[in-house]
Amino acid sequence: MKYIVYETPEQASRAAANLLEEVVAGTPKPLLGLATGGTVVELYRCLVQDCAAGKVNFSATRTVNLDEYIGLPHSHPQSFAYFMHQNLFSKANFQPENLFLVDGSGSIQEEINAFNAHLQANTIDIQLLGIGNNGHIGFNEPAPTFTCAAHTVALTDETIQANSRFFNNPQEVPRSAITMGVRDIVKARKVVLLAFGAGKAEPIRRLFADDEVDPMLPCSIIKLAADAVVIVDKALADAAGLA
Ligand code: F6R
Repeated sequence: MKYIVYETPEQASRAAANLLEEVVAGTPKPLLGLATGGTVVELYRCLVQDCAAGKVNFSATRTVNLDEYIGLPHSHPQSFAYFMHQNLFSKANFQPENLFLVDGSGSIQEEINAFNAHLQANTIDIQLLGIGNNGHIGFNEPAPTFTCAAHTVALTDETIQANSRFFNNPQEVPRSAITMGVRDIVKARKVVLLAFGAGKAEPIRRLFADDEVDPMLPCSIIKLAADAVVIVDKALADAAGLA
């Protein structure tokens, strides 16, 4: 696992977009593991821009998203499916049949079974991650143990609070979600974790502070990935004490 520091979140997002595009260009039917949230918006803007400019072609690209809120249909503006369509899928030449999105308003067990079957049958070529202030990746929250496969999770108060910025008030934030488990994340051929700003410094500082894999710091599992890179901006690097 290594880290790369860029001066600004924009430069870091461009670098991460380039990594995804290299995989798309070099793989016949690439499978991208995708994230939602404020951190990845600029990266997706870069992908959209490059697709419009003919620099990348997503027509054979498959995607699978990390997670989805339980209780929100895909039509809900705060569902992760809606986010993906708004920020990426509807603006580039992805084919609907290549996009795997969990439905948090469907039968939860059926959704989890389908998610696990999909992840077992396919290997993610590059997995994009953001990170929560508490070190969560996907919605794998700090817990006494890791969960390997896709599962439901009760969101922590910290995560509900952090994500309430996307809703009218904290009461509207769903209390649970379906998330990819940590095995599927680390099985990816390449893992790219993006984190910006001093507010995310603490989990990244802890990630590089030792050689331990600790379920109370879920992001630490990426130390087991074959190829993991953490891309940060200078504000985060300075606050985390990274050179
Ligand atoms: C979202 C996801 C989460 C976010 C994380 C950071 O699909 O998996 O782990 O990446 O909560 O969110 P932002 O980027 O909004 O700070």
